[in-house]
Amino acid sequence: MSAMPTKAAMTVPLLDLKAQYADIRRDVDEAVKRVMESTRFIGGPEVSGLEEEVARYSQCAHGVGVASGTDALLLGLRALGVGPGDEVITSAYSFFASAGTIANNGATPVFVDIDPRTYNLDPHRLEAAFTPRTKAVVAVSLYGQCCDMTAIKAICDKRRVWLIEDAAQSIGSEWEGKRSGSTADFGCFSFFPSKNLGGAGDGGMVVTQDAERAERVRLLREHGAKPKYHHSIVGTNSRLDALQAAILRVKLKHLDRWSEGRARNAALYDQMFEGTKVGRPWKDPRARHIYNQYVIRIPDRDDLKQFLADRGIGTEVYYPVPLHLQKCFATLGYRDGDMPHSEAAARETLALPIYPELAEDQIRYVATTVREHKDQ
Ligand SMILES: Cc1ncc(COP(=O)(O)O)c(C=O)c1O
Repeated sequence: MSAMPTKAAMTVPLLDLKAQYADIRRDVDEAVKRVMESTRFIGGPEVSGLEEEVARYSQCAHGVGVASGTDALLLGLRALGVGPGDEVITSAYSFFASAGTIANNGATPVFVDIDPRTYNLDPHRLEAAFTPRTKAVVAVSLYGQCCDMTAIKAICDKRRVWLIEDAAQSIGSEWEGKRSGSTADFGCFSFFPSKNLGGAGDGGMVVTQDAERAERVRLLREHGAKPKYHHSIVGTNSRLDALQAAILRVKLKHLDRWSEGRARNAALYDQMFEGTKVGRPWKDPRARHIYNQYVIRIPDRDDLKQFLADRGIGTEVYYPVPLHLQKCFATLGYRDGDMPHSEAAARETLALPIYPELAEDQIRYVATTVREHKDQ
């Protein structure tokens, strides 16, 4: 008789949005019904309400809802006048949009390596990347931990260039008590469903302290029209719809509870990996970490990923190819070895399930299984 494959003791998906929905179903369903009955699908009180609430939550004066986190970056950069001939500095290790939006505005991305402990842009390497063409810096606060906004902002102020925080993964995170998005010229959020504040589809928001800059993004998201049918600039259609806004307003009320749940789960993982060879995420004492991802570091990453999948555990690699080595940026002339910390992170990191509804025995199962892999 052939050996039966071992059955997983339990399954733990990377993310379980059904568990989240079960918890808030009544309020979400009511919000959807409210919008359907109002038939205010574009703009209106749900969108302006969410804009005010997210701005307040993020210690910002203004919020402008847009169609996605990508559009928040795209229109934010455009509102700052970034275009052909400009260079924009960003992290070599992020989701593609951090750099793709620079290129889509006709500018050139310039990459800087990360701090290997936080995976965020290393401020010590930033100044060396400046040239007379540098127009802006896009600082990415990866995995839910703010980058060193104090140091990065001081450099941008000194050099007189714009600063955008790609806060797609870090809403509610803090650096020295200041909320993610609040210290840059623009903060850009994503409401992609897997984010800590995720909608039922795409969505995003630009936050800022400056009324004029907010107005510029507002104009750009509506084809540059003000008043209607009078176009002072060429914009696009990038609106956040009212259904998304209504759902996100329900979820915003739970965001701190969820982020605290994620931090609690992270603390249990940390404890279970203590004294093992598993590289744990490093939390900077100056930051509030919201753990959009819990990312471990392991030399034999791909093998571990498969080992966990075989035992019912979902994981993901964020991200397998650093931005400077993406094929579409080959003409920029970067080579393997240029950004050693980003390249090592792309080889060795793995995100484990961290969502707030995880039960303690699920976390223990994941951590124990990781430790069993080649006796970590
Ligand atoms: C760091 C980062 N920047 C930008 C984005 C783009 O956001 P969206 O998917 O909402 O367009 C994401 C989303 O995955 C992200 O993680």
